[in-house]
Formats: sequence, structure tokens, C-alpha cells
Amino acid sequence: MKRTLGCCYYPEHWPRAVWEDDARRMADAGLTWVRIGEFAWSRLEREPGTFTFDWLDEAFEVLGKAGLKVVLGTPTATPPRWMLDRHPDMLAVDAAGQPRKFGSRRHYCFSHEGYRAEAARITRALAERYGRNSHLGAWQTDNEYGCHDTILSYSDAARRAFQDWLSQRYQSVDALNRAWGNVFWSMEYDRFDQVDLPNLTVTEPNPSHSLDFRRFSSDQVKVFNRTQVDIIRAHSAAPISHNYMGRITDFDHFDLGADMEIATWDSYPLGFLEDRVPADIAHKRAFARQGDPDFQAFHHDLYRAVGRGRWWVMEQQPGPVNWAPYNPAPLPGMVRLWSWEAFAHGAEAVCYFRWRQAPMAQEMMHAGLLRPDGVDAPGMIEAQQVGQELAEAPDVAPVQAPVGLIFDYAAEWAWAVQPHAAGASYFQMVFETYQALRKLGLSVDILPPETRAFDGYKLVLAPGLMQMPDDLKQALSAAQAQVVLGPRAGARTRDMQMPVPLAPAFPGLDVRVSRVESLRPDMPMPLEGGGAVTTYREELEGTAEAILRLDDGRPVAMRAGRVTYLGGWLDSVGIVRLLRPLCDAAGVETLDLPEGVRLRDTGAERFWFNHTDARVTVEGHDLPAAGVLRQPLI
Ligand code: GAL
Repeated sequence: MKRTLGCCYYPEHWPRAVWEDDARRMADAGLTWVRIGEFAWSRLEREPGTFTFDWLDEAFEVLGKAGLKVVLGTPTATPPRWMLDRHPDMLAVDAAGQPRKFGSRRHYCFSHEGYRAEAARITRALAERYGRNSHLGAWQTDNEYGCHDTILSYSDAARRAFQDWLSQRYQSVDALNRAWGNVFWSMEYDRFDQVDLPNLTVTEPNPSHSLDFRRFSSDQVKVFNRTQVDIIRAHSAAPISHNYMGRITDFDHFDLGADMEIATWDSYPLGFLEDRVPADIAHKRAFARQGDPDFQAFHHDLYRAVGRGRWWVMEQQPGPVNWAPYNPAPLPGMVRLWSWEAFAHGAEAVCYFRWRQAPMAQEMMHAGLLRPDGVDAPGMIEAQQVGQELAEAPDVAPVQAPVGLIFDYAAEWAWAVQPHAAGASYFQMVFETYQALRKLGLSVDILPPETRAFDGYKLVLAPGLMQMPDDLKQALSAAQAQVVLGPRAGARTRDMQMPVPLAPAFPGLDVRVSRVESLRPDMPMPLEGGGAVTTYREELEGTAEAILRLDDGRPVAMRAGRVTYLGGWLDSVGIVRLLRPLCDAAGVETLDLPEGVRLRDTGAERFWFNHTDARVTVEGHDLPAAGVLRQPLI
């Protein structure tokens, strides 16, 4: 596989006179890809129905002639102002009932029929015009679904669409009443059109109602995206992608990804650390200029799975961003490290956001590869270095990791609907498990919840999987790997009710969760031998062997054969204590990597990444601060 670089460019922001020079400099810098167009609707259709394509035709020409391949974005994340005159009720509505107004972006409700038709119309116009353009290399639909909290909408359009979705799913209102348990608190409905959205209720809504609303909302994104995909496919053979974001879980990315050839994502390590990585202040301070050492890697692995092996970084942070609470500059070397980290996890391409820093509007304080005056910014120098190194690097042969970690968007929604402890988050639990695996020096494949073949994995983990279909239980019990389940494995039915027999009801494993409790942050429960259970704990009964206990002797993890059930949320010491012996049992060699040092194996090389600001020696390797070391594997 040939690995390539690119950038995001907005020709509509810059005078026509600089385009040639920009294109030449991109090509000289070793870039292959240039993504354009994804916010340009007001320049493509200044008035409804009047298209102005000449400037985009020219941009294609100029960029293509310089040898670049264009990724064309559909501009549906930024409907122009006139769109609201045509569809005043197209805005998404927040949980407090307030419309989310015009004046930034993503101001639409996925359920609005009128806006869906407009999005299809502009997509068709672009697909017809550019679908076979020789400079076109790929497509991007919309931009970052879910960014700025834009999936759940409580609009009238969403309510009507939800009622329709429910009637198709349940066929009869009695079936819905039974599935949700609406006899409780006299919540029974007589007709589907009585069912409202689960916001503004007096106290919490029925969890089954909330979970269905989450599923519905995810389906709306899929339908919106598929409309674009179908239109583009009819006119173009170029691969189609969408640029996903970090820690956005309100729609099922596996579901969407199944419709497209490539998954891409937007990697902003420093913004994420401030804004969405679960970490304490000391960790944020230590990595303020590097980003969390696992957060990007986790998403690389996640989106590799979403893309069924084909994935890119569509937007790579090239310097300070503008949108986090604090926006430090990266340490010298980090732009290069982030780029190589993506390639080590199998990226086909890394594109930097953006080409030149914009002097106007919301993102004027966001770095580009170039400064606003056109001079190379520090990120450009590192991008060029990566380009030169890529030219000499061996090909990356994709290789299966020894460890598989299941990630399920529906489990994230179920935890969000019923966290039981303030802020308890499935994403966080899975991420902490991933961090522990990486601290042990392991490369990890993230697996979709539909996985039923676990061949080749030595260790498979499914933390927090609240709903577990029987065929998944069967497949896991038949796997040749060490398997770790829980907490909350199979704790709810698909309808979000409690199953009897009690969870986990796993074949061949005599363990039952007899009671659960959640814990205040200041009441961790120590484990015998070190570490603690925090946040959430289960009482376990059964005859399986206890392999981890509280200091009063009560079991926390129990094992039968190759299957281990974990009945609590372990802290960072506890989880490593659980996993290391299981790795030994699975024949997987582990290390104990120092803080901030991580590795990733490909078929040809072991990559070492030092995310700290000091030189580190590990396993006989000398790693410079913010440095990358490539060790050939024989
Ligand atoms: C991304 C987005 C870009 C730009 C960037 C700034 O989330 O897709 O358009 O806003 O953030 O960091």
C-alpha cells in the first residue's frame, strides 16, 4: 500500500491569483491529496437554483494540473441563509426545546424532509458535474456528522419521523407498550402518534423510550448519508468517505461505514486532550503539548474497523487549534509523530487541516501549514519531513493484532440512558481498557459488535457490553482466545429490560450478577493485592473460580476455562493486574511501558512513539523527546 499526504484547502477563501502558487507549493511539499468544497454551498448556489460552478471547475483544473488529486466534499453541513427562508423549521432543536440557529454550521435536523431533499439536490448537481472529472480522487459526504452535538434533535420533524420509525419497528402499539413496559406509571399509549420525544419529561423518561430514540437518531444519520452515497455512486466510480470525529458516539459509525469505501477521521490531539479525553489535571498538564498517548491510536484502530481496513486521517492538527478551552502549540516533532502514528496503525493517507491559516471568521486562530501571510508554519516543515521519510519507508503490510476489543455504539447509548453512577460512560471504560492494553505493549484491533469469527485472536475483550445477542455469546464461548466480559455484560435485553435468568447467562460460565451498586468517586473499594474497584460494582455468585477479589475476599472477577467475567470497573492498577496473567495464559508477551511511550506493530516494523518531552530509554531503544523510532521486524 502506498501511503500519502494531503491537505484541506478552501479556494473560495483566497484570491484566484494565488491558486496556482498554492497548488505548486502543495505538490512541492510532497502532498498528493487536496480536499475542497465541503463548506462552499453559498458560493456554489448563491441564490436558490442558480449554480455557479465556474470557480470550482477552475479550482479542479489548477489543482489537477499541479498533479494533485481532489477529494470533493458535499457542502451539506453548511446550508446557506436562504435555505432557512425556504424551510424555516429545518433547524435541529435541543433537549430544552430551543432551535439551534443559523450563524455557524451543522444547523439542520436530519429528519427534516425538505432539507433532505435540498441536500440530495446539491449532491446530485456536484456528482453530475464532477463525478467523472479526471482530477477527482475521492468524495467526502457532509462534514463530521455529530460534531457540535448535532445528532439528537427534538424538533417536530424528528417527532413525526420517530413515530413513523416506531410504527414500522413495532407494528402495533401494544407491542411497543410491552417492549417498553409502559404499564409502569400508566405510560401506555393508544396510538403511535401519541408518542413524544423523550425530552422535557417531569422526571426521567422510560429508558426503553430513550434507547429507541437513540437508535432512531442514528438511523436518521444513516439514511441522510446513504441518500448522498447513492446519488454519488450513480455518477462516479471514485471511493466515498465521511470524516468522523473523536469521541462522537451518537450514531453508529459501523452502520454508516458499511455504505462507504473508506473511513476517515479528524485528529486534533491537543484539542481533544483539553476537551474530551477522560483524564486528571496532572495528565492534561503532562501531555498538553503532545496530546493523550492513546486517544488518537484508539480512534485509528476504531476507524480502521469502521472502514473495513481502509481509512485515512482527513484532518490532522498541524499546530495550535482555536476551539478547546486552552490551545497550546505542539512540541516540535509532534506533527511528525502524529502522522507516523497514523501510518503505523494502517492509514492510507494523512491530510493536514488546513493549507493556510484563515485571517477571518471563527477559525482565524487555528494554525495551518502556512501562516496567514503565506510563509511556511512549523507544521509544514514537519509535514515535508514525513513526506521525505515516506518515500524511503518500507510498505506497511496489514497484520492482525493479537488482541481484539469489541466496541459497540449501542452499548454506549444504553450506558448513557442508564449510567447508574453520575457520568459513568461506556466509552471511558472501553478507552481505559485500551490504555491498559497499550501500557502492556500490545497492538489492538477494535472489533464491531457483529463480529462472530475471532480466529487468530489470543485475547478478546468485551467490556460493558450491556446487550449481548445469543449468537455473540456462542461465538465468544467457541473462540480459541482468552475472553474477558463485563461488567454489565448482557445486563439488558434488546428492549432495555432486565433479563431472567440473570446476566451474564453465558454458556459454560456459572456466574450470576445478583446485585449491583454504584460508588461515589471518593469510595473506591480496594482489591486484595493492589488496585481498586471504582464507580460501579457487581455482586457475583456461582461456582466459577474467583481470580480477583476485594480485600474482604468477595469476588470481583471469576473465570471458567478461557472465559473471565469481570464484575466491576477497575482502576488503572486493577485492570493491568487482571489482564497481565490472562495475556500470559494466552501466550501473548507483555511489556511494562513507561508513561507516554507506546508501540505499534505492523507486518514489517515495530514503531516506538515517545509522547513525552524527555528522552527515554526503553527495551534497549533510545527514544528522543516527541520522537518516533522504526524498528524493522525480521
Ligand atoms: C474540524 C472540522 C473543520 C475545522 C476543524 C478545526 O472539526 O471538520 O472544518 O473546523 O475542526 O479544528
